[in-house]
Amino acid sequence: MHDLDAIVNEALALFSGIDNADQLEQAKARYLGRAGALTELLKGLGKLPPPERPAMGSRINAAKTQLELALQEQREKIQARMLDAKLAEETLDVTLPGRGLGLGGLHPVTRTMERIEALFRSLGFAVADGPEIETDYYNFTALNQPENHPARSMHDTFYLDDGKHLLRTHTSPIQIRYMEQHRPPIKIIAPGRVYRVDSDATHSPMFHQVEGLWIDEHITFADLKGVLIDFLKRFFEREDLGVRFRPSFFPFTEPSAEIDMSFGAGWLEMGGAGMVHPNVLRNVAIDSERYQGFAFGLGPDRLTMLRYGVNDLRLFFENDLRFLKQFN
Ligand code: PHE
Repeated sequence: MHDLDAIVNEALALFSGIDNADQLEQAKARYLGRAGALTELLKGLGKLPPPERPAMGSRINAAKTQLELALQEQREKIQARMLDAKLAEETLDVTLPGRGLGLGGLHPVTRTMERIEALFRSLGFAVADGPEIETDYYNFTALNQPENHPARSMHDTFYLDDGKHLLRTHTSPIQIRYMEQHRPPIKIIAPGRVYRVDSDATHSPMFHQVEGLWIDEHITFADLKGVLIDFLKRFFEREDLGVRFRPSFFPFTEPSAEIDMSFGAGWLEMGGAGMVHPNVLRNVAIDSERYQGFAFGLGPDRLTMLRYGVNDLRLFFENDLRFLKQFN
């Protein structure tokens, strides 16, 4: 039938010119849809004389199959073209450096603390801890600090409203807490935050200390000097480091000394130290005739400033990432 061939040829030509999926489906409807040209021919079969119906029916069905195949081919072509276009548009340069993840880093004072802990552990010191909110007893009284000592005044120490607690002014109360729980030999360091009413380029109201305590039967001032000099030289990785012990006073040590350090120019104060006062040992029921030892308190913030060449302590506590990132 001429009509059928013409319809098929027209449809095939139309399909092959379409490069858009929606338009292709609309074109399909024109031939195979409910009111499509082929559908109409099928509907008209009933008007043909009965003997002609089977032959015409199978021709129309063959034409239908032919159009379906052509449509499927065209669909695949359109899809392949779209994929190519998308790939061309979304080019990925795998040679570009990655953006990476912001992993964060350790605060410079934390790095110093970890370094201090590692160095003292290598000398056999354990690491102890204690609360930042203390009682008057642990912070002062048990450390042989008399009631009228100036450090106990309201303007030198942060007291809590309950009148019973204060923010510890040093890490020395950890000495007392540890010795209440352990008998000699005792060999610890205790790092932590401490608080004082003080604020300028070299003082922050919150700062850090590392306490040291070694109690045994034969510990002397020579051991104190040996441990601290060895520590400072290893911390700064310098053999030419000068270390000086300057006579001083602390209620909880006797004799007492300030530890000064020098790279060659002037002397810098790094902390306090001394032989643990017998009254302190008595307060924790350790026999001061049999046992003796030393204690020290170092300033890790100061150690960090010197190690990295930072001249203002406040930079450490302002949380400015541009500053902090330099250490990682
Ligand atoms: N706790 C003292 C201070 O903060 C330092 C110190 C510790 C001195 C241990 C002697 C022994 O100043």
